[in-house]
Amino acid sequence: MIEFEGKVAIVTGGANGMGERVAHTLAERGATVVIADRDGERTPLVEQQIRESGASAHGYVVDVTDEARVAELMKEVSARFGRIDVLDNNAAALELTAEDPDVAALDLAVLTGTLTGNVVGPFLCTKHALPVMLAQGSGSIVNMASVSGMLGETSLSAYGISKAAVIQLTRAVATQYGKQGIRCNAVAPALVMTRNTSEWMPAEFKDIYTRNSMTPYVGDPQDVAEVVAFLASDRARYMTGHVIPVDGGIAAASPIVAERRDLA
Ligand SMILES: NC(=O)c1ccc[n+]([C@@H]2O[C@H](COP(=O)([O-])OP(=O)(O)OC[C@H]3O[C@@H](n4cnc5c(N)ncnc54)[C@H](O)[C@@H]3O)[C@@H](O)[C@H]2O)c1
Repeated sequence: MIEFEGKVAIVTGGANGMGERVAHTLAERGATVVIADRDGERTPLVEQQIRESGASAHGYVVDVTDEARVAELMKEVSARFGRIDVLDNNAAALELTAEDPDVAALDLAVLTGTLTGNVVGPFLCTKHALPVMLAQGSGSIVNMASVSGMLGETSLSAYGISKAAVIQLTRAVATQYGKQGIRCNAVAPALVMTRNTSEWMPAEFKDIYTRNSMTPYVGDPQDVAEVVAFLASDRARYMTGHVIPVDGGIAAASPIVAERRDLA
């Protein structure tokens, strides 16, 4: 499939997990992919892997919360490749989720750090990619939200607040720039088994998600990459401002479904 031929796609957090899969998927389908990640070891590695597969990738070691660096990145990409067609705002400060309890116990520094990583990063990348997209009269932005930004949880307060803000950023951008050819959507995964989640997550956690999913399994990074690629493409030309759950049906079903299934 070469549907992204001639298109330039920026994937933030593209050196690991879902971003890495998105970078591979868009590159395989013809895009020139820019991996923008703060991970100085894995960014060149993923760039090399994509190039070895015969596709086009360029790694930039960038912290997306640094406005000067983000502005420079967007200028560099547009000068070097001539355009920015896709922005996948995927990077997030996931290291802070380990210190993210209920609201009464939440440290202010964890909240502000989470908002910086998860909201300021996508905001800055969007703000500085938009002038390029507006000048060319087209662009598709895909933000990485989460079911945690749509449903209440017993912990992960800062994370949930930040992902709800990402959903609102999505609607604002879709509303403000739709008539000028820019679409903006979000994807809301539930549990996706990346290298990082597999490392830290207790087995019981995965069991809870599996039990409460309507599918027999939890998510794989490629499940999310497929939806991101669709939203990024012209096949989704009539979709904007929406949040697409990629969650095995968790956000669709009654919260007592797992218990009722056990009873039956
Ligand atoms: N894994 C899940 O179960 C899950 C579920 C729902 C939503 N999400 C969301 O999906 C996205 C990707 O998650 P993942 O599990 O693949 O993460 P991951 O930890 O595997 O990868 C995240 C990448 O983002 C990069 N990054 C983080 N902060 C950055 C910054 N400030 N500047 C540049 N790069 C930065 C990291 O270096 C890393 O390469 C995140 O937005 C996350 O909140 C994940």
